[in-house]
Amino acid sequence: MCGIIGYNGFRDANKVLIDGLKRLEYRGYDSSGISVIDKKQQIFKEVGEIKELEKNLPDFKGSIGVSHTRWSTHGAVTKANAHPHLSTNKKIAVVHNGIIENFQKLRENLTKKGYKFLSNTDSEVLAHLIEDNYKGNLQKAIFNALKKVEGYYAIVVTSTDEPDKIVGARKDSPLVVGVGDNENFLASDITAFLKYTNRVIYLEDKELCVITKKDITIYDENYKTVDKEINLIDWDISDAEKSGFAHFMLKEIYDQPDTVNNVLRGRVSEVDQYIEFAEKVEKELKPDLDSIHIIACGTSFYSGLVAKYMIEKIADIPVSVELSSEYRYFGTKKENSLVIAITQSGETLDTLAALKEAKNSGCQTLAITNVIGSTVTRLADAYILTQSGPEIGVAATKTFTSQIIILFLVALKLAIKKGTITSDELYNYILNVKELPKQIRQVLEKSDEIEKIAETLKHAHSVFFIGRGINYPIALEGALKLKEISYIHAEGFAAGELKHGPFALLTKETPVIAIATKDFTYDKILANIGEVKARGPQVIAIADETDTEIEKHADFVLRYPTNQTILTSIPITVTLQLLAYHVANLRGCSIDKPRNLAKSVTVE
Ligand code: M6R
Repeated sequence: MCGIIGYNGFRDANKVLIDGLKRLEYRGYDSSGISVIDKKQQIFKEVGEIKELEKNLPDFKGSIGVSHTRWSTHGAVTKANAHPHLSTNKKIAVVHNGIIENFQKLRENLTKKGYKFLSNTDSEVLAHLIEDNYKGNLQKAIFNALKKVEGYYAIVVTSTDEPDKIVGARKDSPLVVGVGDNENFLASDITAFLKYTNRVIYLEDKELCVITKKDITIYDENYKTVDKEINLIDWDISDAEKSGFAHFMLKEIYDQPDTVNNVLRGRVSEVDQYIEFAEKVEKELKPDLDSIHIIACGTSFYSGLVAKYMIEKIADIPVSVELSSEYRYFGTKKENSLVIAITQSGETLDTLAALKEAKNSGCQTLAITNVIGSTVTRLADAYILTQSGPEIGVAATKTFTSQIIILFLVALKLAIKKGTITSDELYNYILNVKELPKQIRQVLEKSDEIEKIAETLKHAHSVFFIGRGINYPIALEGALKLKEISYIHAEGFAAGELKHGPFALLTKETPVIAIATKDFTYDKILANIGEVKARGPQVIAIADETDTEIEKHADFVLRYPTNQTILTSIPITVTLQLLAYHVANLRGCSIDKPRNLAKSVTVE
């Protein structure tokens, strides 16, 4: 949580920093601040969204500075607790993302030494601690100060004593260097500086980086300088902008025909009958795996549940799916099993911690992520990129469908290696997966129709989503999307479970969204719809376009294009994403930045 950016170059720092903060706002948006050096630290903070900071920001002169957008962990949402924090002598400015676990002890010691604290945050100790260690060299002071710190951090620091440099350091929180011409950047995320450069250096844990206008120097954990590779990013700045859509979430829903094509590009061929990943990934996908354990949080967890159905059905390998926060402490870590971590951001702390546990127990590990260079890509033995471009809306959409398709390809690959699939089956699966971009477009064309149904939901207090088999996790995801952005209480259930308790909550004021697929569960779901209707609620069915029966059972029907059941989860998901979006929009909610949430959860 929290977004940080530092700039050192020839442009107006105010402008670059505000622009960068707006692109990082999805990481936190309760307060923000900026400091720009012009002989002294010129500092300004505001509570609320970045637009409040921008509106009131004084016209600071200078081309070197740091800024921060906050998602509070320690200390209330106040100007004093917003970053940057200044050292007692007002020369050093620090922005921080992470948690300093021993901050109380450090604060007591620094207070005894006469340092003056102005906030209740853990982060402020860093500013005073760096001042306490300062002997004429900022990076050395930071290096020594960080030796005393327990917890995790990405920090970016300036000092008026050395006004030509910015220093950054990271441990378990993301920080990347943007390499420009006569200007350089440090930020939580590439999107913050993508407008100016697509050349990036990824910092490892405990590395420290000094940027001047022209030079970049990186130190390892022993304070030895290291050479690092500059990576070229093929994301376009338009990917990180709304391109005329009212919200990032809507744009990202509409990106999906392209993102699905990107996932498939170069990885599948029905003619040559192959599924291809990088060599390192292929090595992890062994045919004799005893089991697969998937770990993830939130929406990524639901794509893991979808994958369980796919891998068990196609490749006949048992799969368990666990929440990272649980697996981390309680999960079984077995030999000859593969642990797959799914994380859009590649920075979710619980998932990283669970993955470390798995590695330490000797498991082989594979990550599925959207962010090249993210921590998970360096932690796992191998990784697969979802190649969806930046996802800015807090609600995950395009990365969810990409994760599912990657996992579908993993299932096919394992099935080929194990010999559990015939070549005809493989041919058909690949043909059908390639149909998805077209089918998603067909769903997107129904947006107005979906909006009309959303009208019927906009005043609901509670909405149920039901599905069977692979559509059970899709129901869970549909409910998560709705609750996350519209603030309507929503729950997803395996349809057969309703009568084991949740029925008690059903009244005619509780609309039920029922996912009906034309497979062997169809009659069962019709029976479930009947049970629901008998208790009064309205039922909205999400049904196959060829289904001639469903109208007799449901009050409203939204149709999805026919495909194999295992793949219909994609068009059904897009339907539910649009439904959640329209309900939230009709209710006037803050769709891209829902209250109390942040895009990437880098705290436990
Ligand atoms: O970056 P990750 O995939 O690890 O994030 C996991 C969850 O925090 C995330 O999916 C969250 O549930 C989304 N906001 C849901 O839309």
